[in-house]
Amino acid sequence: MAKTKILYTCSACGAQSPQWAGQCSDCGGWNTLSEVVAMPAPAAARFSGYSGNAPVAVQRLSAIKTDKQLRTSVGMQELDRVLGGGLVAGSVVLIGGDPGIGKSTLLLQVLAALSGNLNSLYVTGEESLQQISLRASRLGIQGDDIRLFSETSVERIIATADKERPQVMVLDSIQTLYTEALQSAPGSVAQVRESAAQLVRFAKQSGIAMFLVGHVTKEGQLAGPRVLEHMVDTVLYFEGDPGDRYRILRAIKNRFGAVNELGVFAMTESGLKEVTNPSAIFLSRHEQAVPGSVVMVTWEGTRPMLVEVQALVDESQLGNPRRVTLGLEQNRLSMLLAVLHRHGGLTLGDQDVFVNVVGGVRVSETAADLAVLLAVMSSFRNRPLPADLIVFGEVGLSGELRPVPNGQERISEAAKHGFHKAIIPVANKPKRTLKGLDVIAVNRLSQVLDTIAEAF
Ligand code: TYD
Ligand code: MG
Repeated sequence: MAKTKILYTCSACGAQSPQWAGQCSDCGGWNTLSEVVAMPAPAAARFSGYSGNAPVAVQRLSAIKTDKQLRTSVGMQELDRVLGGGLVAGSVVLIGGDPGIGKSTLLLQVLAALSGNLNSLYVTGEESLQQISLRASRLGIQGDDIRLFSETSVERIIATADKERPQVMVLDSIQTLYTEALQSAPGSVAQVRESAAQLVRFAKQSGIAMFLVGHVTKEGQLAGPRVLEHMVDTVLYFEGDPGDRYRILRAIKNRFGAVNELGVFAMTESGLKEVTNPSAIFLSRHEQAVPGSVVMVTWEGTRPMLVEVQALVDESQLGNPRRVTLGLEQNRLSMLLAVLHRHGGLTLGDQDVFVNVVGGVRVSETAADLAVLLAVMSSFRNRPLPADLIVFGEVGLSGELRPVPNGQERISEAAKHGFHKAIIPVANKPKRTLKGLDVIAVNRLSQVLDTIAEAF
């Protein structure tokens, strides 16, 4: 085998240098260079025109057969959905999230649910076997079919797995593993990347489905984020506050399913329980309509969900009033406030504006624009909007209302939950009328304001 060479790679831009430096010479980032192993290409492959190797068989795309039955249900509908319909053999799933959010709990429950079907192996790098046993008894898991061991060397883990031949494997966590190929400490970007690369290669060769647990850094990113996300097939991320009862599992990337798909769980005394009707829990259900609260329909992966957007507008004591968002993008709020000023005549230059999505959900789509604007207006005027009103729609810079995908399904979801009025973009107007739901389709922000004028 060729001798390995050490290189230093910038974790921000990927530039490589033969020597370590405090600053990357390419992108100027500080402390971003980390050690990696450079695998020299085999001598023959360096020349593109010539290769000493035998040619590889080439196939026609149409001749490649896929087996639809490759997916195995993990015994939890919400997780199956996030995975894109079940677990795929040979796939690598990265599960990230804050400490204490429930990653280890979820995976132990998955292995227990799978144990009748698939041969499993749990590798722990940070907890003792006793701790896992305690958790299992708390979850009411017998564990006759769950095999486990404690190890942090990737080489030894692969050797053990190769001998044991499980069908599904959990590695908790990738940051505690190290490979003997590198000198740097476990948890460093280089180690995480190299360990994950070896495991991914092994998963593909052996057909073992793998769950990798990834910790997040203080900034809320998976350590070695870019490198890991590129390598694995699926990235799932726990959202929500560890102190909160509800946990949201979101697919950030999925080679086998819809991205942004959500699974909702509740952390109980005996582990994570699925929440099959998430719309119901994200509405705070006020007794009466309150100012600054608007319900919207968001589209997460393959299903609609009702969430409540809340705003608080208050006179600012600061020279530079604050614009704070939780669960939404902050720049988008600044833009929407400018649109509200220009096209709605509402001046908020001397007001602090806080916007929050109830229940710790993160809404990244533009369909939230209209809900944010109306919540802000409602709080500023201190007048509530009707409690049975639902809205969605993107707001453009010229004050126009733009359609969003899956309008029909969103409207149906609202009707199902007993809402009676909807303000939506014209292009999203459903073709048939819905019983009990009065749909007001509008073109411009000014029309929205006219429509709700009687409420103010
Ligand atoms: P854990 O799964 O260890 O989180 P992670 O692996 O993401 O760091 O634990 C999650 C938290 O959930 C922990 O603080 C204890 C709590 N918990 C329950 O409330 N009920 C339970 O049944 C279990 C097992 C844990
Ligand atoms: Mg854990």
